[in-house]
Amino acid sequence: MTACIVPPSRLTREDDVTTAILLENIHQSATTRLDEAGLKVERRTGALAGTELREVLASHDLIGIRSATHLRADDIRSAPELLSIGCFCIGTSQVDLEAATAAGIPVFNAPFSNTRSVAELVVSEAVMLLRRIPEKNALAHAGKWAKGASGSFEARGKTIAIVGYGNIGSQVGVLAESMGMRVVYYDVLARLSHGSARAAGSLEEAVAHADVVTLHVPATPRTRNMIDAGVLASFRPGAILINASRGSVVDIPALAAALREKRLGGAAIDVFPEEPKTNHDPFVSELQNLPNVLLTPHVGGSTEEAQENIGTEVAAKLVNFLNTGGTVGAVNFPEVDPGPLLAPARLLNVHNNAPGALAALNTLLAQDGVNINGQHLQTRGSTGYVVTDLDRAPSEGLVAALRAHTGFVRSRVVLK
Ligand code: NAI
Repeated sequence: MTACIVPPSRLTREDDVTTAILLENIHQSATTRLDEAGLKVERRTGALAGTELREVLASHDLIGIRSATHLRADDIRSAPELLSIGCFCIGTSQVDLEAATAAGIPVFNAPFSNTRSVAELVVSEAVMLLRRIPEKNALAHAGKWAKGASGSFEARGKTIAIVGYGNIGSQVGVLAESMGMRVVYYDVLARLSHGSARAAGSLEEAVAHADVVTLHVPATPRTRNMIDAGVLASFRPGAILINASRGSVVDIPALAAALREKRLGGAAIDVFPEEPKTNHDPFVSELQNLPNVLLTPHVGGSTEEAQENIGTEVAAKLVNFLNTGGTVGAVNFPEVDPGPLLAPARLLNVHNNAPGALAALNTLLAQDGVNINGQHLQTRGSTGYVVTDLDRAPSEGLVAALRAHTGFVRSRVVLK
């Protein structure tokens, strides 16, 4: 298989091996997947910035990063031959997505790989807090014996309210129900209920009768301080709050007050409005040293399995893009799923989404005398992406014409 990129300089890459650089100690599963696809993979343990980053961007076809490497607009523009970016994590805010789209570079991530890890932690925390284990554990470590059933409850038969019934929220519901909990959820979108979960019409309705309230919403202006003093006041006395979503969702001083006044029975908080940047920075929270409160350092999704899944998932998306031009799962790009390459050649063309772009491409193909076997077009904002299967490889003349066309951002050819 060969590929040519238009622009910039290289017409064909027949003698080239496709190369990938993986930064930030990305899980070995990614290397294995890329190796299997025939790529030459280089690994680095840390993040890169500045000149070092530019150097690796300029000398590789694919880059894999996690959250500590920032790909800014000028970094992206400095690497005209870069084919794709893999974010081996959930978030993609470390990449200037607009600049990547403008350069014709799809960016992939792994939105579901740690869903199960978060869900397991949440359900187990609910059990721990219903049994007041944090308190009893602290006392036992301090040499005190707090045997007793008072204030300890089974999860079975209790109601869990899930706020945000997306990937994680719905998984929490499935696990909670398997332990005999009643599941009610609130979401701004209509969602398919799993099992016997019941949708509530409002946040207030969802939390009103809940023994455990767990939050799984994104950070948006609407979810900012969504759980404030007023909402906390509408919780059942003794209810438990779990937040493993985003730190901005809970008004922490209001939560601390509700815990101190024993209006709530406990809380498990994994995410905070301000989190230390590294493991060496201090962590301070008003919730420290409150009874029956579990504080964890944003580890909801941090498991070996999740890292392994992330490695495989993002690497598979990069390989799929490389081999077929498929962009399903790209966070910044028109999504096209052309399937495996069966025709002799496939032309991948990124263009400015303006009237006449597709006609211009097809005219150039017709002038080259190449026949179109199939064509898939998608647009997103100002970008159009069209994948065209051809009955033969384009001529050098066609490649030159594609490169010269001002409305085209870039083109690549994959040969069978
Ligand atoms: P998702 O996008 O699949 O689900 C979010 C759900 O919240 C959607 O169904 C959406 O419609 C709903 N929603 C949005 N605004 C809402 C509102 N105002 N009220 C009610 N529902 C609303 O997201 P996913 O993957 O389930 O992640 C949920 C959260 O968990 C995100 O904030 C994510 O950043 C966080 N997360 C935390 C991790 C950790 O380590 N603690 C790991 C992974 C994700």
